[in-house]
Amino acid sequence: MSTVVLIGTQWGDEGKGKITDYLAQKADIVVRYQGGNNAGHTVKVDDQEFKLHLIPSGILYPGKLCVIGNGVVVDPAVLVKELDYLANRGVDTSGLRISANAHVIMPYHKKLDAVEEDRRGEHKIGTTKRGIGPAYMDKAARIGIRMVDLLDEKEFKAKLVRNLEEKNYLLERVFDTDGFALEEVFEEYMSYARRLAHYITDTSLLINEAALAKKDILFEGAQGTLLDVDHGTYPYVTSSHPTAGGACIGAGIGPTRIDQVIGVCKAYTTRVGEGPFPTELKDEIGDEIRNNGAEFGTTTGRPRRCGWFDAVILRYAARINGLSSVAITKLDVLDSLDTVKICTGYKFKGEIIREFPHSLRYLSECEPVYEELPGWKEDTSGARKLEDLPENARKYLERIKELTGVEISIVAVGPKRSQTIPVLEIF
Ligand code: IMP
Repeated sequence: MSTVVLIGTQWGDEGKGKITDYLAQKADIVVRYQGGNNAGHTVKVDDQEFKLHLIPSGILYPGKLCVIGNGVVVDPAVLVKELDYLANRGVDTSGLRISANAHVIMPYHKKLDAVEEDRRGEHKIGTTKRGIGPAYMDKAARIGIRMVDLLDEKEFKAKLVRNLEEKNYLLERVFDTDGFALEEVFEEYMSYARRLAHYITDTSLLINEAALAKKDILFEGAQGTLLDVDHGTYPYVTSSHPTAGGACIGAGIGPTRIDQVIGVCKAYTTRVGEGPFPTELKDEIGDEIRNNGAEFGTTTGRPRRCGWFDAVILRYAARINGLSSVAITKLDVLDSLDTVKICTGYKFKGEIIREFPHSLRYLSECEPVYEELPGWKEDTSGARKLEDLPENARKYLERIKELTGVEISIVAVGPKRSQTIPVLEIF
């Protein structure tokens, strides 16, 4: 039995969906523990492509329990749509469980996300405008509405009345826009409650009982380490904890129950939204990586900023998350390049630094120090074991391991389930 936390080591979009899907084959339960529908997973099963935002991608395997933990913020409109989407494609969703304590994204959260972002002007964060930040703000302010409240009409209405009073004041008086009508929101959310009621339960109890029964459990982080509200490139972060520690809080399980932490890392780096990005490539190589890797957001369609692999970031992620190993994804995207570069450290005020700076201002002044390696100029998408990879691709992986001190457990060479090279046994 094993409990494994899977996290993103960069700025999100590392291909966690694909690795979750790969590991979910053997897991009994897949748990999401933070974030919301700001995330987007594209999973390829044979020739079919599935795009999921909220439901753990383990749902694509029959018989798995898939949990939306208490640390997730749930937009019920999106969840209901996702359930319909899966049902229409013949996927059984009866294994879904939603934490009664998960907070609910309300229409005013989405609107506030958009108007606050517009007001920030040049200081904008580049949020997904899905209401994530405002929902977590209400959670911390202790005025949030939880899934369990949806099951109690009276309680829900009372909380909605109190919230709308404040939110409508803000929207109408501060942001000079329309507020929301109580009855409309109430009716809409009661219809979601009827659809979702039978999935809502005490998921912490379920997960802990499964751990005691020695089941294999996979905790699936959304976004990435550098988007963590504490450990990321604040303020250009999301409002939750995508790091490994977040799994304990967001699923209601103690740290002593976690056996392994696996980091997912692209063979290069990408970022969406604003904020410093030392190895960003604003040239034709960046365009080549973007096109080869189809680097456009699953959730917003935005083109992702692309750059070279950054070993400083992976070392930092190894420290913050206590990584047991790393899964390197999208190695095939680099197949066409003549040479590949790895950032080994940063030059800051004339000195070489090897640790990720704690200050965003320092980070924005850092220049990457590169090591250049020969490319492999061969198609790797058909490789199924390490020995199938060209020698230069293996050297590239070996160098990443040396520079970061993290073992590689999986290498992915394409989006399909079959395009996965297992290196170390996980479950
Ligand atoms: P929010 O999570 O919508 O509040 O956005 C905050 C920051 O996190 C922005 O820079 C987003 O682009 C980024 N972000 C949120 N979710 C994801 C994701 O799933 N992948 C990559 N970036 C994300």
